[in-house]
Amino acid sequence: MDNSFAHEFSRFLGSHRSIRKYKSDPISQELIDQVLQDAIAGSSSSGNLNGYALILTRDKARKAELCRMHFDQPMIEQAPLLVTFCADVYRTRRWLRLRGARDNFNNFEGFLVAAFDAIILAQSVALGFESHGLGICYLGTTLDSCDRISKFLELPETCFPVTSIVVGVPDETPVKRDRLPLAAYIHNEKYKQATDEEFLRIYADREIKGWERYRSLGGEIAQEMERLGITNLAQYYTSELKYPPEEVLASSRRIRDLLVAKCFDVCG
Ligand SMILES: Cc1cc2nc3c(=O)[nH]c(=O)nc-3n(C[C@H](O)[C@H](O)[C@H](O)COP(=O)(O)O)c2cc1C
Repeated sequence: MDNSFAHEFSRFLGSHRSIRKYKSDPISQELIDQVLQDAIAGSSSSGNLNGYALILTRDKARKAELCRMHFDQPMIEQAPLLVTFCADVYRTRRWLRLRGARDNFNNFEGFLVAAFDAIILAQSVALGFESHGLGICYLGTTLDSCDRISKFLELPETCFPVTSIVVGVPDETPVKRDRLPLAAYIHNEKYKQATDEEFLRIYADREIKGWERYRSLGGEIAQEMERLGITNLAQYYTSELKYPPEEVLASSRRIRDLLVAKCFDVCG
């Protein structure tokens, strides 16, 4: 492969930032079609069953309604395009039924495999839009509100929303977010558990940068952190300001209940 492409690609990946402020400029249908077509053609998919469905939302009123389901994240109303990626086993099962094949994939593994397909595709779509100079941001709130979003988008049984992205022309240039040193993620041959000292060293930079970033968000957050007695970044992550365990558990239960309601056999 041409070395200059590898270099360009490395630079391109290095330029990624999640964008949370957008201009209202529309994205042409032609560009959307091209990015989606390329992403679908260029993404691996289990059994080539392509277990995904993408719902495009451009209508302002519908985006406003979805914005509420996504905990009022303002970027959803600003960005011209919201894409919801669904693990879609419904389409495959319908094909099986029409061709007299045995039903399958309406189970936990079927869901996971389709969800992987959908997530792999989502990242290709994200890179595709970014390669055209557009900004994107994922919305983890898709899972938190999976039941309401599923109803709103009229998803059939065994079709489940797993993630979403907003897409548009960036109206901010955020600083690059850090990652842990490579050694934190990579294990040779076997998983190596670091000692406590090694662990804290690995997280040292993240703790300083993350803490500064959240503290710099403004008076109210800083005051809340003080009120809750939060003294480090790890405590912030599971405080009521970020990912409180009770809410994560409630969300997990909603996901399980919706999987069951959508006829995924999650136990059998
Ligand atoms: C599955 C997923 C869900 C995310 N959900 C949200 C979200 O709901 N709101 C948000 O502002 N950012 C969200 N993000 C963006 C992350 O916060 C962001 O990717 C991370 O902080 C690293 O920053 P970077 O993308 O700029 O490198 C999400 C990212 C992923 C992969």
